[in-house]
Amino acid sequence: MSILSNKRIILGVTGSIAAYKAADLASKLTQAGAQVDVILTGAAEKFVTPLTFQSVTGRRAYTDQDLWGNEAHVLHVGLGRAADILVIAPGTANTIAKLAHGQSDGLLAVTALATRAPLLIAPAMDGGMYDHPATQENIETMKTRGADFIGPTEGHLASGLSGVGRMLETAEIIGHIRVVLGRNGPLAGKKIVVTAGGTQEPLDPVRVLTNRSSGKQGYALAQAALEMGAKVTLITTPTALTPPVGVQITPVETAKQMLDAVLVASVKSDALIMAAAVADFRPKDMAKDKIKKEGGIPQIELEATEDILKTVAAQRQETQCPRVVVGFAAESRDLLENASHKLKSKGLSFIAANDISRNDAGFAVETNRVTLLFEDGHKEALPLLSKTEVAEMILGWVSRLLE
Ligand code: CTP
Repeated sequence: MSILSNKRIILGVTGSIAAYKAADLASKLTQAGAQVDVILTGAAEKFVTPLTFQSVTGRRAYTDQDLWGNEAHVLHVGLGRAADILVIAPGTANTIAKLAHGQSDGLLAVTALATRAPLLIAPAMDGGMYDHPATQENIETMKTRGADFIGPTEGHLASGLSGVGRMLETAEIIGHIRVVLGRNGPLAGKKIVVTAGGTQEPLDPVRVLTNRSSGKQGYALAQAALEMGAKVTLITTPTALTPPVGVQITPVETAKQMLDAVLVASVKSDALIMAAAVADFRPKDMAKDKIKKEGGIPQIELEATEDILKTVAAQRQETQCPRVVVGFAAESRDLLENASHKLKSKGLSFIAANDISRNDAGFAVETNRVTLLFEDGHKEALPLLSKTEVAEMILGWVSRLLE
């Protein structure tokens, strides 16, 4: 289940031209299962209307007029108490100044005082206003009180100039909301390393030996670990996927680079999850120049790569780190026998065995059907699940084993 499912999110919309983008944010959050209560400031109403937000959230959107309506004495308290997070996007210099000084002359400001939910602000303003010492001091004040600021980024501004002041895009804001909502989860304070993608072993400057791994399962594991509160390092080969907001990315290409990155990252980590499809063989020598067809069909000699998990197992005997190590076994036959052998030979806490001969599991599809085999001998066969659900199940076990 998405971390956004059934979460109560107050979305404060203030008077910036970026207010139109807040409608997309409200819509995407609603589609992800959140209950979004929008509060518009008076200035926001000059750019967008409550109806815009009601239409995408299916819920009433509030304005300053509601501050003086029948529910006035409880509305801000009720909204504030029910909220899991207060997101202000876009956040103008004026609203940030008001909040920094505890002013409460509008429904959004008074709700921000009333709530104890985490506060996430995505500023949007002219570059000069953002740089102004008054704005910077207000932001610092709010940060010391625990507010999170995300962006602004550099780019085209409403003034026609270019500079730092653009609100983050919807997907990034949602990524940050997920991180904040997961922050106190069962893996809070834990460091998890995840590998993803298929390694690429160069034959010459243009060609590589690689495999069909899309990286989807690894990225889903990184996102799930993050949403359970962990600090996540994602060691990934190039993929077509957007990395989850909030993970530390270590880009690699070859098995050797992945090995080096894993050894460095796993020294101080609590768990390692090797979802990457690592090449077992690489060309012994990489041709310095592009191999030309005039030279005839090349004979390419291969050599074995290092087994990353076996190397980690050796390191682990000395350091005891990481405490939990998870592998994957992609098999086209004798699934459980092969997986069980890998579990033992690679010194794993558990292994996720998946049958890649099926077309609903394994490489490049959205779903996976895995059986988890544990070092104590017990087994858990999971039904056909999305890769996100598989990731949540695996992280659930990692969390239990780390307890
Ligand atoms: N793995 C690894 N280092 C390698 C190869 C694989 O750490 N050089 C890891 C994978 O990330 C995975 C597990 O080992 O978590 C099993 O990978 P898999 O390719 O199924 O097994 P191999 O050990 O490569 O054996 P084979 O390909 O012969 O089945």
